[in-house]
Amino acid sequence: EKGGYDYFMLKEIAEQPKAVADTLLGRIDAGGSLTLDEVRISASELREMDKVVIVACGTAFHAGLIAKYAIEHWTRIPCEVELASEFRYRDPILDAQTLVIAISQSGETMDTLMALRHAREQGSKVLAICNTNGSTIPRESDAVLYTHAGPEVAVASTKAFLTQLVACYLVALYLGQVRGTKWGDEIQDVIRDLSQIAGSVERVLETMEPVRELARSLADKNTVLFLGRHVGYPVALEGALKLKELAYMHAEGFAAGELKHGPIALIDEDLPVVVVVPSPRGRSILHDKIVSNIQEIRARGARTIVIAEEGDEAVVPYADHLIRIPATPTLLQPLVATVPLQVFACELATARGNEVDQPRNLAKSVTVE
Ligand code: F6R
Repeated sequence: EKGGYDYFMLKEIAEQPKAVADTLLGRIDAGGSLTLDEVRISASELREMDKVVIVACGTAFHAGLIAKYAIEHWTRIPCEVELASEFRYRDPILDAQTLVIAISQSGETMDTLMALRHAREQGSKVLAICNTNGSTIPRESDAVLYTHAGPEVAVASTKAFLTQLVACYLVALYLGQVRGTKWGDEIQDVIRDLSQIAGSVERVLETMEPVRELARSLADKNTVLFLGRHVGYPVALEGALKLKELAYMHAEGFAAGELKHGPIALIDEDLPVVVVVPSPRGRSILHDKIVSNIQEIRARGARTIVIAEEGDEAVVPYADHLIRIPATPTLLQPLVATVPLQVFACELATARGNEVDQPRNLAKSVTVE
């Protein structure tokens, strides 16, 4: 049932191109418009929304953080993202004009369920993004957009995360479409890019052997840091979470701009630091900033592991290890940039003799608060 793989996690990482394609299937019509009829919140209601609030836990929360960039950029609707476990305890401001999005692979996470119940009690509409048909979270929501990752068995979430991202992009684009935002042309371009992205994920998977080798060489390290900017920041958080749960190593993700506000004091001789580099095309200011962050940490002796687009030559002089990913528009880059981090954590777990599919102390769905 592991399809020839040693672990479910490896199988599920390999299934990602299909999971991404399946989640897009039937949702983009021949004319390049989105058909999300399953979102049973009417277009007129969606036009009335003046705020989006995303609630989720763990990896699903990281998908929500990325969704915020897409939703605000494409729709200009203010969007907040909050850990479901924090949400209802602080008396959040919610009303009928707030669209609440609850993201959950299992559909059974108690914190997320409690957050959405709270939101509905305040009169907000809840849209679930979920991978498990008929589970509690979609049943209790006003609408659901299912991710089509198929069953995810390994405790560490991989393919579900990529499909959560796809679903978030679809919701963001759909909101843009029904609200007729001024980003109309860009939205068409993104829909086209999104429909080709599974091929890019496949290409990343074909080039992962050096990442595995690198991971094995770091098996005796205690700490790994992850840095990113913009959507690369949640990707860094996700890379760190994967490493904690699988390799039982100390790992932290930082926004690269925060380095000099504290974390740079951690940089030590030979400390592995993974840096997610945004595309040099488009908003190139982001790219230039992160290149100088890489220089700063390398000057302090860090071992830099740089994830950068093919053809990005500016990072080459500062990368001790260079992991290439296909050129991808910045907002969509997490779909390709996360994959090497999953492979990295999985291989480190194996090298350290850990149980990959069933890490210690963790359960696949957390049904207590
Ligand atoms: C990490 C992981 C967890 C889950 C979190 C939410 O790899 O799997 O952080 O993402 O427990 O679970 P769901 O998405 O089922 O609500």
